[in-house]
Amino acid sequence: MDTGSLYREEPESESPPQGGEHAIGIDSDVSYAENTFLSEVDSVIASRADIIAIGGGKGGIGKSILAANLGVHLASIGKKAILLDADLGGANLHTCLGMNTPRQSLSDFVSRRIDNLQEIVASTTVPGLGLISGAMDLLEAANPKYTQKIRILREVSRLDVDYVIIDLGGGTGFNILDFFLVAKRGVLMVSPEPTSVENAYRFLKAAYYRRLKALEMNWDLKPIVHDVIRNPGKQGLRTPADLLRRVAEQDPEGGAYLQEQMAKFPFDLVVNQVRSPEEEELGAAMQQACRKYFGIQMNHLGNIPYDDAVWQSVRHRRPLIMDSPDAMASQSVRQIAFALGMGGE
Ligand SMILES: Nc1ncnc2c1ncn2[C@@H]1O[C@H](COP(=O)(O)OP(=O)(O)OP(=O)(O)O)[C@@H](O)[C@H]1O
Ligand SMILES: [Mg+2]
Repeated sequence: MDTGSLYREEPESESPPQGGEHAIGIDSDVSYAENTFLSEVDSVIASRADIIAIGGGKGGIGKSILAANLGVHLASIGKKAILLDADLGGANLHTCLGMNTPRQSLSDFVSRRIDNLQEIVASTTVPGLGLISGAMDLLEAANPKYTQKIRILREVSRLDVDYVIIDLGGGTGFNILDFFLVAKRGVLMVSPEPTSVENAYRFLKAAYYRRLKALEMNWDLKPIVHDVIRNPGKQGLRTPADLLRRVAEQDPEGGAYLQEQMAKFPFDLVVNQVRSPEEEELGAAMQQACRKYFGIQMNHLGNIPYDDAVWQSVRHRRPLIMDSPDAMASQSVRQIAFALGMGGE
């Protein structure tokens, strides 16, 4: 394996962008309503449950496996948990739990056939663990608009459980990012392949800027942030950390506020399908790169080894930690749950 490219610290570092919005990945072509989403949601989500979202920007890297098994683990230690399948276009969390497609799903809520989200929580085979299916039967429902998103999140904040685990689809669309950003803990998953690492950085960057936009709206920092973006200077703005530094140069108070807020925005990282000692180092390398380039803390929660028990459990239609409780991958899931402060071993 080409570990040189695997451990490359920042995907765009070889060809520094020349500055401007596109160079550092800010998409200004979004509606005001979309931009204010997160600032509004900050007040909407005074959630009773701890919300944990699992994303990663790429499909097939184990997000649903981790989500399902964290849920099963929580139930096994006596916590009440709900899994929310927010992979609206390709919901399959029920399969990881060995269930058929639930009769009701977020479609029923989005189309207002059902008003109370609690009513579409399906029981799973594990006592204490519920599932809200994301299976969508309406094309537009797979891409809910702003007001629908607020509705979903407002109801999620009212769910009477200890934990809500949100399983996200691949990609970096606003709907995926927003579910990620409202969570108390955002877990970024990556597998040790250059494509996955690249997508994880892309996801991180997109989430970072989405959060930044909400903050600049809230505190009227938009003109200064945009001035910095429009006038990148000789060196250009290569990284999000550069952007914050430059804002601070122009407006020390505003810059300090942004830096403080963005520092409160930690990501958790899980490396899945690890096959060699070399690949075990990826998490630490990414953690370091994030501090350097984004100026934010990334907590490497742990690794999950590549383990035949994982795909076998999917075939057996039983959650991994029930199908093979002693498998290496099951032990890793429990360690990750512990690192997330969920209790257990
Ligand atoms: N640690 C592992 N060891 C072996 N196989 C694994 C491991 N993790 C995941 N897999 C395999 O990868 C498949 C895809 O995992 P999963 O469905 O969780 O991915 P995903 O990130 O949710 O994908 P999508 O974005 O398409 O929903 C699993 O069905 C399993 O076969
Ligand atoms: Mg999935």
